[in-house]
Amino acid sequence: MDSSSKLVLVMCFMISAFGIAIGAKFDQEFDITWGDGRAKILNNGDLLTLSLDKISGSAFQSKNEYLFGKIDMQLKLVSGNSAGTVTAYYLSSQGPTHDEIDFEFLGNLSGDPYTLHTNVFSQGKGNREQQFHLWFDPTADFHTYSITWNPQRIIFYVDGTPIREYKNSESMGVSYPKNQPMRIYSSLWNADDWATRGGLVKTDWIQAPFNASYRNFSANACIPSSSSSCNSNTTTSTSNSWLNEELDNTSQERLKWVQKNYMVYNYCTDSKRFPQGFPLVLVICFMISAFCIAIGAKFDQEFDITWGDGRAKILNNGDLLTLSLDKISGSAFQSKNEYLFGKIDMQLKLVPGNSAGTVTAYYLSSQGPTHDEIDFEFLGNLSGDPYTLHTNVFSQGKGNREQQFHLWFDPTADFHTYSITWNPQRIMQILCGWNADSRIQE
Ligand SMILES: *[C@@H]1O[C@H](CO)[C@@H](O)[C@H](O)[C@H]1NC(C)=O
Ligand SMILES: *[C@@H]1O[C@H](CO)[C@@H](O)[C@H](O)[C@H]1NC(C)=O
Ligand SMILES: *[C@@H]1O[C@H](CO)[C@@H](O)[C@H](O)[C@H]1NC(C)=O
Ligand SMILES: *[C@@H]1O[C@H](CO)[C@@H](O)[C@H](O)[C@H]1NC(C)=O
Ligand SMILES: *[C@@H]1O[C@H](CO)[C@@H](O)[C@H](O)[C@H]1NC(C)=O
Repeated sequence: MDSSSKLVLVMCFMISAFGIAIGAKFDQEFDITWGDGRAKILNNGDLLTLSLDKISGSAFQSKNEYLFGKIDMQLKLVSGNSAGTVTAYYLSSQGPTHDEIDFEFLGNLSGDPYTLHTNVFSQGKGNREQQFHLWFDPTADFHTYSITWNPQRIIFYVDGTPIREYKNSESMGVSYPKNQPMRIYSSLWNADDWATRGGLVKTDWIQAPFNASYRNFSANACIPSSSSSCNSNTTTSTSNSWLNEELDNTSQERLKWVQKNYMVYNYCTDSKRFPQGFPLVLVICFMISAFCIAIGAKFDQEFDITWGDGRAKILNNGDLLTLSLDKISGSAFQSKNEYLFGKIDMQLKLVPGNSAGTVTAYYLSSQGPTHDEIDFEFLGNLSGDPYTLHTNVFSQGKGNREQQFHLWFDPTADFHTYSITWNPQRIMQILCGWNADSRIQE
C-alpha cells in the first residue's frame, strides 16, 4: 500500500465509526423513499420487495452513509418478461461532483439474458461502463451481489466471483472515489426508452406488477456520521480484511473467465465512443537539458516510471526517456521530487507522422480536489497537419484557463525545449490515462 492510501485508511478510522451489520434487518438499515406502498419490508425485517406497475416504481435507501466498506446484498430479479425494467442497486454520494458505484440490472424478454451494467463515477464523471451477461438465471433464485470499496480499489462480485476491478489510478491522474461518503440506493423502475436492446423492446404492462426481492444485507463498513470513534487497531482483525482486499491469483483467473465469456460491453475498448483512445503504435522521446539545480540530471535519479508495463524506458545511461503508446496502453512517468517554485526545462521530441488521436501531456500538478496544475499538452494530428499545444493553469482545483497554440517548427523532427517557471508541487507525465480498469489481456 502506498503512503497516500495508508493515510486515507488511517483517516477513515480516525473520523469514522466502524459498522458491521451482518444479516441486518431491513427496517433498521433502510428507509423506503418512494413508491406509495409498492416497496414493502416483510418477514420481520428479513425481506424487502420492490414493485413496479404502469403508475410507479419504488425505491429504498440506506439510513447510513459509508466511506469504504464491503457490502453484500442478495437480490432476486423481476422474472418472466422483464423487458424495459431496470433494477438499480448502487452506492452514491450527493451533488454535482458526486461519486457513485453502480450495479444496474436491465431486464429482457423471457428467455433472453439480463444485462448487468456496472459503472464508476468519480467527481461527477462516469463513462466507465462495463456490461455483463450472467452465468445463471438471476430471476430463479437469490444471488449475492457485492461491492468491496477500499482506498486502493473497487471490486464488483457476483456470488463471490469478481466481475470487475476498478483500481485507484490517481497516480496516473485519474480521480478515484475516496472522500465522499455514499449511501446505498435501490429502485425498480421503467426505462423502456433505452434499457432493453437499446429501447427496441418495450415494457409489457400486461405482466405488471413486476417484483424484485432483497434479503441478507450485510455491510462491513466505515460510517463517518457516527459519533463513536474507531479503533485503528481493528484493521488487523479478519473482519476488516476488505480494507486491504485485492484479487489473489485464483480470483484473477475467475475475473478473466468472466470478462472473457460474459462481458458484453467495455468502455475501454469502445473505439467508436473514444476514438482518441486507440491510436497506432508510436514513440515519443524526451531528453533532459537542464533541470533547475539539477542541470543535466539523470532520468533514473529524478523520475519514476509510473505505468505502461515496460512501454516507458530510460535509456542511454539515464540521459534519454521514451514513452510509447499502443492499442493496449500508454505510459507515463513522474518526478520523484515535488517542487514549490522553480524553472523547469525539458526537451521533448513528439510522436512523428500520423499522430492523430494521441496526447502527450507534460505538466506540474499537486494532488487532491483543490490541486494546482500547470499544463502542457501536445495534441497530435494527421501527417502534415500541425500539432496543437494546449496550455492550462489550475488553481485550487479550478482550471478553464486554456490557451492553445500552433508551433513555428515541426515538434516531431527534433528535440525542442519546453519550460515552465512557477510554483507547482509535482511533475507528472501522462498519456491516455482515462482507463483505470484492470486490463485483461488474452
Ligand atoms: C437481451 O437479449 C438480447 C438478445 O440475446 C441481448 O443482445 C441483450 O444484451 C439482452 N439484454 C438487454 C438489456 O437488452
Ligand atoms: C408481483 O407480486 C404481486 C403481489 O405479490 C403478484 O400479484 C404479482 O403476480 C407478482 N408479479 C409477477 C410478475 O410475478
Ligand atoms: C447471508 O449472507 C452471509 C454472508 O454475509 C452468508 O454467510 C449466509 O449464508 C447468507 N444467508 C443465506 C440464506 O444465503
Ligand atoms: C493499538 O495497539 C497498541 C499496541 O498494541 C496500543 O498501544 C494502542 O493503545 C492501541 N490503540 C488503540 C486506539 O486501542
Ligand atoms: C501468483 O502469480 C504470480 C505470477 O503470476 C506468482 O509469482 C505468485 O507466486 C503467485 N502467487 C500464488 C499465491 O500462487
